[in-house]
Parts: sequence; structure tokens; C-alpha cells
Amino acid sequence: MTAALSHIHRYVPAPGAQRLLLLLHGTGGSEHDLLEIGAAVMPGAALLSPRGKSMDEGVPRFFRRLKEGVFDLPDLHAKTAELAEFVREAKAAYGVADLPVTALGYSNGANVAASLLLSGTGLLDSAVLFRPMVPFVPEALPQLQGVQVLLASGEVDGICRPEESVRLAGLLEQSGAVVEQYWAPVGHGLTQGDILASQQFAARL
Ligand code: MLT
Repeated sequence: MTAALSHIHRYVPAPGAQRLLLLLHGTGGSEHDLLEIGAAVMPGAALLSPRGKSMDEGVPRFFRRLKEGVFDLPDLHAKTAELAEFVREAKAAYGVADLPVTALGYSNGANVAASLLLSGTGLLDSAVLFRPMVPFVPEALPQLQGVQVLLASGEVDGICRPEESVRLAGLLEQSGAVVEQYWAPVGHGLTQGDILASQQFAARL
């Protein structure tokens, strides 16, 4: 079941769903990548999984980067706004406009989810960010009171370095969010520990 909307995507309905889980893949991924993890982390949630619209590197991403870890900020802001608009369109199209939204993103997908939070879109009430970085530092901090965020980071991640996670946690906390941090004893790849930590976080929402 897929409506024609602004992003290529998968939507997986769930009868009686209490929550919409927005799945945001990593660089070179697709709308299919996180469906299984999403269903495991939040059983019973409806799943909305868009494909990133930036193809500047020849593979899908959610926004352009100038090089690894250096982001094209005007593009990041434009793509963040487009993604927020897509989620609003999709909620209306699939009849789930009233459901609260949790984002679950990996790497580039975690970074665009962090951008949705820091841009003050008000779209997310919670987020699971696997291997995130600080996407940008807002001039004025958003109001994130009541928003719950899990950062799941790799202790030896050379791409999304541990200090980036610490910096992001600080920005989110200063904005009023309740932040939990899980440290996986690995690098950029996900582990069973990441899944378990996110299941425990999701069960408390
Ligand atoms: C990004 O570009 O968002 C980060 O460098 C992580 C990634 O490699 O996708």
C-alpha cells in the first residue's frame, strides 16, 4: 500500500496502531532497509519509510555533503523541510494524522532525524538515533520539552565519532529533550545491543 507522494517510500499499516515509526536509512540505503528493525523495535506501530532524495553521490542520502562529516547546510535545511512536509502529507494520506511520530534513523538517517528535531519542526515526539552526529547548530535552540531521544553510538566509530554524540546530546538536552545514551562497544555497524537498547527505550514511550 503506497500512495504517490513527494518521496519514494514504503508504508506498512498496523491495525490499531498507537504510533507511527518514521524509518530513515543510512547513506546508500533504501526505503526497505529498516523495515525489519523497525518492526522489531516497535511492534504494533505503523511504519513509514522514505528514500532519501539526494543522489549527488550516486546513491540515496537525505541531504548533500561536501565531504564525509561536512554537510551542505542550505541543502540540509531544504531537505529537512521537504522531509517534514512529506511526513505530514503521508500522515494525512494514510489516515494516521493523529498518531505521534517516533523517528528511527541510522547514520545519515539519524542525522536528518536530528535535523528535524533541531529545526523545531515539532514533528517528532521521540527518536532513536543510531550513530548520529550534530547536523548543524541552530542559532536559537528549539523547544523540545517532553521529547525523548535515544542516542545509540559506537565507542570506536570513526565516521560518527563519540564526541559528536556527546555534543548532540548536550544540544538536545539544552533544548529541553530527555536524552538517553547507549554506547555499543563497536564502530559504525549496528549490534544486537543497539536493537535491545532501542526496544527498551521504545517500550517506555
Ligand atoms: C553523513 O553524511 O550523514 C554522515 O557522514 C554519516 C554517513 O556516512 O552517512
